Amino acid sequence: MKKVIVLLVVLAISVNAFADIASSKHNFTTGQITGGEICAPCHHPHAGADISEANAPLWSHTLTSAALAPYVSITSTATAAMDLNPTGTTKLCLSCHDGSLTLGMFKGSAGAGSAMVAGLVNTATSHPISFDYAAVALVDGDINDAGDNSGFGSTITLDLLDGDGKVQCTSCHDPHNNDNGSLLIYDNAASALCTACHAK
Ligand code: HEC
Ligand code: HEC
Ligand code: HEC
Ligand code: HEC
Repeated sequence: MKKVIVLLVVLAISVNAFADIASSKHNFTTGQITGGEICAPCHHPHAGADISEANAPLWSHTLTSAALAPYVSITSTATAAMDLNPTGTTKLCLSCHDGSLTLGMFKGSAGAGSAMVAGLVNTATSHPISFDYAAVALVDGDINDAGDNSGFGSTITLDLLDGDGKVQCTSCHDPHNNDNGSLLIYDNAASALCTACHAK
């Protein structure tokens, strides 16, 4: 009996360890528009893929052209370092999450007229994104240096910033992995994700 319980616990843990894209809200195969494919709305493996955006891997979904309304606060220094429009992976995310394009607007899809994505993100009232982290860390003493240990295995630069050293949606989210819930990139228990960058 004990062995069975141990086995069940091990199974439960390992099932949880595979909370990949298929068990996340980014599994779009439950809708009718993707032709049963998970990756197709975001990636296009052949000619015709959009590689115009920095750090955009073989992109399939139509890119948003909506302007970024940045978050502004009296204490934040990030706004000055921010790109005028969303860049990199943030632009990829907003192509579905800013409410300007439908889920089905991707290469080879017949479902362009499908519904808008639920779960819209308003950049004006969200964590600042699309800015140079090191430039802000230089002037904000409460922000850890980019070369500091993130607590997630390597430096802040390697673990949390994009290829250009910028904070993007992907600083906090992994679009493929739901191990940590809410598609978070690392476990945010005790706010470890927040304190990786914020010296609080
Ligand atoms: C909701 C959109 C979305 C879906 C669905 C998606 N991806 Fe991605 N993928 C992204 C974004 C955004 C990036 C770039 C940011 C990053 O690397 O996390 C990326 C990066 C990648 C990369 C390069 C970086 C890396 O993580 O290795 C590969 C390979 C990849 N995706 C494969 C896949 C495959 C295979 C599937 C289907 C099982 C898939 N993706 C589904 C959005 C998506
Ligand atoms: C990749 C690094 C990074 C991560 C992870 C991160 N932040 Fe930030 N955050 C920053 C930087 C850099 C700023 C801009 C600081 C500035 O403007 O001086 C910022 C700004 C903020 C602000 C706005 C401060 C102001 O002056 O208005 C708040 C609040 C905040 N973060 C909270 C959080 C929370 C909560 C988490 C965890 C869920 C988090 N952050 C995760 C880097 C990060
Ligand atoms: C192809 C369209 C598409 C793209 C591109 C996309 N998403 Fe999503 N995302 C969705 C849809 C649809 C949902 C489900 C919304 C709902 O039903 O609440 C979702 C849900 C989410 C959720 C909520 C997960 C949860 O468990 O509550 C997060 C977080 C998220 N997306 C982050 C991102 C990030 C970060 C990116 C870019 C790296 C991204 N998404 C790119 C379509 C997309
Ligand atoms: C500083 C970290 C951080 C950044 C940057 C960030 N998110 Fe999130 N996001 C979170 C956390 C933490 C949650 C978990 C839900 C909560 O309690 O707010 C979340 C939740 C979400 C959700 C679920 C719905 C909701 O509002 O709770 C979506 C969709 C989402 N994020 C998309 C995005 C997109 C798109 C971007 C880039 C424009 C982005 N996030 C940038 C930390 C972040």
